[in-house]
Amino acid sequence: MAETERLICISAALEERGVGVRFALPEMGERVTGFAVRYNGRPQAYVNRCAHVPVELDLLEGDFFDLSREYLICSTHGAHYRPVDGLCVMGPCKGKSLQVLDVVERDGHIYLRMEDHV
Ligand code: FES
Repeated sequence: MAETERLICISAALEERGVGVRFALPEMGERVTGFAVRYNGRPQAYVNRCAHVPVELDLLEGDFFDLSREYLICSTHGAHYRPVDGLCVMGPCKGKSLQVLDVVERDGHIYLRMEDHV
């Protein structure tokens, strides 16, 4: 199975625990989006779909971190997810996880890696 990479953003666009960058995920459906954030220096990316009800996490675009900047939070009912692996540790879907996306940072850019299913 081949892997493709596509550019999400430049590295500088992802500030530590700052605003996240959203991107389209046409491979997963017409309106599906993903998002990337930076946590402890590393880019992390997930499908932008809550594990409780399949809605996007950020009602305010790019606003993924809670006030403590320690968790990713769903704006709808407040599920808290660990930024390192997407596990829900508090809220209505505790124990479930966000769907992880593979991202790589190289030469000042952040790329999404997707497997080709053709
Ligand atoms: S839809 Fe995200 S916590 Fe309910």
